[in-house]
Amino acid sequence: MGAGLACPDWPLCNGSAVPNLADPLIAVEYAHRLVAVLTGLFILSTMVLVLLWFRSESNLLTLSVMSFALVIVQSAFGAFTITTELDPLVVTIHLALGTATLAFALMVSLAAVHTTAGAGSVAHATGLSSLNEEVHKADPDETDGGPEKPLRPPFHGGDRKERPRDKDER
Ligand code: HEM
Repeated sequence: MGAGLACPDWPLCNGSAVPNLADPLIAVEYAHRLVAVLTGLFILSTMVLVLLWFRSESNLLTLSVMSFALVIVQSAFGAFTITTELDPLVVTIHLALGTATLAFALMVSLAAVHTTAGAGSVAHATGLSSLNEEVHKADPDETDGGPEKPLRPPFHGGDRKERPRDKDER
């Protein structure tokens, strides 16, 4: 769509912190930068929360630190796409690192759910434990646990007891 160089400078856009957004190409490029800042802040907060609450979870710690390092490098390559006027190699690296950033965000989420402390800690730390209670209250067939039982992702079937209903559904 040709929005790549709608903001030909960096970190400002056309010399301004808030450019004229009436031009759709500038709006697209500026939105991309704002979303990049938000993404960076989310990844930074995740790393800080892991450092504060889940420091002993080495997988989670490693992944969240790597994820933060990656988003910094990715943002630097975002800036290089501008300063090199969309050099194809730089744009390709920026795309590859963008995909890696998404992959790392997903791995951090999975590692958070699978902490050795259990999903219950994540639910508690994030305030989801009350949601957990609602889920258990709402399931009339629930026999194998009370409100304390942590939320389990659907792919974690290891400790799930078979219910009569499951047999009927086969
Ligand atoms: C979390 C950070 C970021 C992510 C995940 C991200 C992701 C992406 C993706 C997936 C593309 C499409 C690549 C393609 O053309 O095939 C792209 C394009 C682009 N990004 Fe980013 N980006 C980020 C940060 C930035 C920043 C901070 C800047 C500028 C300072 C920037 C500037 C650009 C530009 C100019 C393009 C267009 C390249 C072209 O026209 O071919 N990006 N970005």
